[in-house]
Amino acid sequence: MRGPTPEPDRTQHWALPAWVYRHAPLTPLEVERVLRPSWQIATHESAVPMPGDYTTVDLGPDSIVVLRDRDGQIRAYHNVCRHRGARILDGSGRCAGVVTCPYHGWTYQLDGRLTGVPSRDLYGDLDRGSLGLKSVHVDRLLGFVFVCFGDVAPAPLKTTFAPFLEELAPYRIEEMVPLGPVGFEDWDVDWKLAVDNYLESYHVPIGHPGLFRLCRPDYEDQKAAPMIGRGTGWIRDVPSPRWSERAYQQLLARTDLRLPPSCHRAWRHYSFLPNLGLDVYPEQMDFFQVLPLGPGRCRIRYGLFGLPDERREVRVLRRLSHRINASVNREDRDLCMRVQRGLESPSYTPGPLSGLEYWMIEFHQLLASRIPEVRLPEAPATFAAPRGVTL
Ligand code: FES
Repeated sequence: MRGPTPEPDRTQHWALPAWVYRHAPLTPLEVERVLRPSWQIATHESAVPMPGDYTTVDLGPDSIVVLRDRDGQIRAYHNVCRHRGARILDGSGRCAGVVTCPYHGWTYQLDGRLTGVPSRDLYGDLDRGSLGLKSVHVDRLLGFVFVCFGDVAPAPLKTTFAPFLEELAPYRIEEMVPLGPVGFEDWDVDWKLAVDNYLESYHVPIGHPGLFRLCRPDYEDQKAAPMIGRGTGWIRDVPSPRWSERAYQQLLARTDLRLPPSCHRAWRHYSFLPNLGLDVYPEQMDFFQVLPLGPGRCRIRYGLFGLPDERREVRVLRRLSHRINASVNREDRDLCMRVQRGLESPSYTPGPLSGLEYWMIEFHQLLASRIPEVRLPEAPATFAAPRGVTL
């Protein structure tokens, strides 16, 4: 038995045409019109605790650096030197008091001001005040720092997530710390196909046997709020025949995680369009972000977080949870690659979508609102490539 179904919609929706998942000129348009104008998760505040701590997030050819300044404020800048455009910082780390470009050594304060220019006297009339790092829009939610690559900030996250803040409050996500470095996985799968997969639970009973053994079939797959899909799985009481799943069930039942009963056995999943997932478990939580690398290729960027808790039973619980979810992730990757391969067949024509795939439908509607051509049965002869965006 499935859980509550979305509000009845008798319209029959159909999958997107295959060309949309493998068309080179389309990916830069998606970056420009869908991803750059959206909030992109960058880091958790606890991952940049000290002045000078930074992390970067890349989208297509662009990059943003998020850092903590001397006053403890979180700031975010385009990761591009104002001299000749060098990418300044990579990955994550700590700047020694200032941000120094590795090319000619221009130096910026943590508040973005340009203060150091080697061989300053060799320049003409140099206005350093106008050559600071370019700021980008920043917002925060549950301790996470989000950035926007576009010029116009989307709606505030607290407004968009308002329907869920109460149910998320007991987890104290703001107080969580990273349980490891941010990870990356590259898939030979179009980013939209990976997002499609994350947005529907229809495939769980067949595609994720472990998850289906672990969670009751009354999965709540609810239409939740504009831009956000939310589902909740409940851990079964009946012990799983697999030792790792059974051990997780048993340890979860006897570990006090200081959560209210409504959270004891809930695996909560939130999908924030266009490309972010948040998974909240009793013992930890994660984010994953799907980033295009080109047509038919994407990068999964992910991070795992938990409350500081060194109890042995909590560490074991987290390892078991990670083991189970690593298996789910491999299954998702393999299933997505199957679809990517299948879409190569000239025989494929878009199939009908079920009521359990309605968040895919919502995602496709978002795509079509920004790029109407995705509804065409065949790729248009030409696309106007956005300036400066290549993939
Ligand atoms: Fe950065 Fe020259 S490009 S100092």
